[in-house]
Amino acid sequence: MRKRKWPELTTTDGARYRERSYWDERYSAGGEAVEEGEQREWFGAYTALKEALPEDLDRSGAILELGCGSSRLSSDLLADGFACVTAADFSPACLAAASAAAAAAARRPPAAPRPLWLALDARRLPLRAALFDAVVEKGMLDALLAGERDPWRVSKAARRQVGLVLDEVSRVLRPGGHFVSVTFAHPHVRSPLYARRRYGWRVRHRTYGEAFHYHVYVMTRGDGEPPRDDDDDDDDDDEDEDDDDDAAPPVMLEYDEREDFLNAIDLSTFL
Ligand SMILES: C[S@@+](CC[C@H](N)C(=O)[O-])C[C@H]1O[C@@H](n2cnc3c(N)ncnc32)[C@H](O)[C@@H]1O
Repeated sequence: MRKRKWPELTTTDGARYRERSYWDERYSAGGEAVEEGEQREWFGAYTALKEALPEDLDRSGAILELGCGSSRLSSDLLADGFACVTAADFSPACLAAASAAAAAAARRPPAAPRPLWLALDARRLPLRAALFDAVVEKGMLDALLAGERDPWRVSKAARRQVGLVLDEVSRVLRPGGHFVSVTFAHPHVRSPLYARRRYGWRVRHRTYGEAFHYHVYVMTRGDGEPPRDDDDDDDDDDEDEDDDDDAAPPVMLEYDEREDFLNAIDLSTFL
């Protein structure tokens, strides 16, 4: 019998959220309006997120935020008493927007402390091992996973991309350090990506927010060595690629935040 190919029901190409060029364009002059001093914040303000952060985050320790965009998170952590915060993104335009906003904020009293900004790709961190007490990401892994057709069966390619980030996070965290991942993704779909034997870390889950619940995953690095390339326990290797023509069509998710990658979620498994 001839295989039926599902029609594309959406014009949204979520995969573009994985590309640096997309973020560069979006945050550059002429892209999404990012006026000087204006910042775009995913998943709400720090005041709400703060309640879901691990209580034992060391305020004197070093924190790395990956995929910072133009968010205020790093500046808010500094303002809240965290001593040493580095904010990184692979898009120079995002960093330019963030630093312009922080410079504008610094001109208004009381002067706000500013993080150290680094342009880098979270999949290949040019940083020494065990440097950080905590690594935080908010919406960056969501961007890497955008465009997946089925959140319940993440493709092997996307799992690899997430794995590259997690390997690097595990490497730059000191033993006992926390990796905090903030996302809209529910534990049923996100926990399997994080709870991998390879890292030997404990995954805790919390939520915050009122009208819409955001999810916070806290992974704590054990005392063991971080994974090496030949330590591959990826038990997913035997699974098929998820590019099967029989996959059900994507279903649009209603959400009032105008973010296309939320709409790129495929809820076919519920049908
Ligand atoms: C959804 S936005 C979130 C921005 C910010 N964290 C916030 O909460 O407002 C995703 C961000 O991740 C960045 N990003 C995506 N992939 C990345 C990668 N491989 N390395 C570093 N940054 C990345 C994008 O440039 C973008 O700024």
